[in-house]
Amino acid sequence: MSIRSPFVVVMGHVDVGKTLLLDKIRGTSVAYREPGMITQHIGVSFVPWQAVERFAGPLVDKLRLRGKIWIPGFLFIDTPGHAAFSNLRRRGGSVADLAILVVDITSGLEEQGVESLKLIQSRGVPFIIAANKLDRIYGWKSVENRPFLFAVEQQEWHAIATLEEAIGKLIDQLSRFGIEADRYDRVRDFSKQVPIVPTSAVTGEGIADLLLVLAGVSQRFIPREKLSVSYGPAKGVVMEVKEERGLGVVADVILYDGVLKKGDVIITAGIDGPKETKVRMLIMPKPLDEMRDPEDRYMAVEEVKAAAGVRIVADGLDGVVAGAPIFAVWDLQDIQKVVQLVREEISEIKIETDREGVIARADTFGTLESMVLFLRQQGVPIRRADVGPPTHKDVVEAVLSRRKNPTYGVILAFNVKIPPEVEREAMSSGIKIIRGEILYRIFDEYIKWSQEVKT
Ligand code: GTP
Ligand code: MG
Repeated sequence: MSIRSPFVVVMGHVDVGKTLLLDKIRGTSVAYREPGMITQHIGVSFVPWQAVERFAGPLVDKLRLRGKIWIPGFLFIDTPGHAAFSNLRRRGGSVADLAILVVDITSGLEEQGVESLKLIQSRGVPFIIAANKLDRIYGWKSVENRPFLFAVEQQEWHAIATLEEAIGKLIDQLSRFGIEADRYDRVRDFSKQVPIVPTSAVTGEGIADLLLVLAGVSQRFIPREKLSVSYGPAKGVVMEVKEERGLGVVADVILYDGVLKKGDVIITAGIDGPKETKVRMLIMPKPLDEMRDPEDRYMAVEEVKAAAGVRIVADGLDGVVAGAPIFAVWDLQDIQKVVQLVREEISEIKIETDREGVIARADTFGTLESMVLFLRQQGVPIRRADVGPPTHKDVVEAVLSRRKNPTYGVILAFNVKIPPEVEREAMSSGIKIIRGEILYRIFDEYIKWSQEVKT
């Protein structure tokens, strides 16, 4: 048994600086880590704690964290966004151990920031807030990579006043969602208040603070069992399935426990249920110092230990859906047991009942699960929930459901296209289709429509 680095996911509204923030953190870790200890991943960036300590030394001492950090570092998941976050699903929660909700300090919490917040909360993931674009506070004097705590001491009063006003506004907004938050150095009880760390992805100010707050929150709020990894068959989740030139269909997978080996039997899932295959190749990026030709960035490896991000090459991966669990099997007698486990997990997400309710459709297991969780929280009954574009059968089911209650004659479609023939059929049967990329917008539209139907 050993302790792995926590997975951290970055969320927030468009253009708040998620990508740049990750780039900055990654750049910092590359610059400050010791040569030789490079671990590269697919879709994940590893930031060793030792690099953080070197980068943020004076702040580590000021906050009295030296010698107190036992996590090996952080694994930042490189694909920010709420659909990607949904696909990090794992039975009973998320593969993400922590989230950073990024907001633009000059504009506060925006629409997709709220969506992110709701998703993070629905999966029970602890989070912190990065109030980014600090350098855009009027009159702020920047020094590259300076910790926020040191920077704030050096500002003119009017810059401080503008900063405080912006933070105050953000705290206010968050309180409307039932969240108590404060500037991180003023938080008294981290179990009740969410820390806000002002950052700039351009100047690097506050990045040190962000990493240290992450470390503190990791050690206090991630259950230790969740960070324990053992030597056994790998467990993970499929993040993305895609066609790669020369390799066929590959799966990018996040492994959170165990060891995955070339030749392992793996069980994962497609729309129709569990799928069994065998790992033909495991692919990782080459270490940075060996990466000469950008065309030749990857290498095959024999095995990968959790926690990690890895690309799997295997037959029959086409049809595997993002958000599906993926489990390796070492003892072939266990295959049926694991297949059954995957089947049960999938049937918890896909719903098919005789009770009346709405029809839900989403593009992946992850987004479908988020949608089901959300609708249930709002008290909306579901008759059928499935992955992929709506079909003829959905329209038929919606018509049946409507007999009981007219507000159930609806198909809610998240991140999927509507085939024209289904659209026509729905139209002629009087079934409403509500489509969108933002969950609570779909829900709001549904509520509005159902009120119209009732009157
Ligand atoms: P999406 O992926 O489109 O949702 O955006 P994002 O959140 O990844 O934002 P991204 O990192 O692409 O940054 C968006 C814009 O904001 C870019 O023009 C960045 O240069 C700028 N930006 C990001 N962070 C900062 C910051 O801290 N300060 C300033 N001044 N500009 C920033
Ligand atoms: Mg981005």
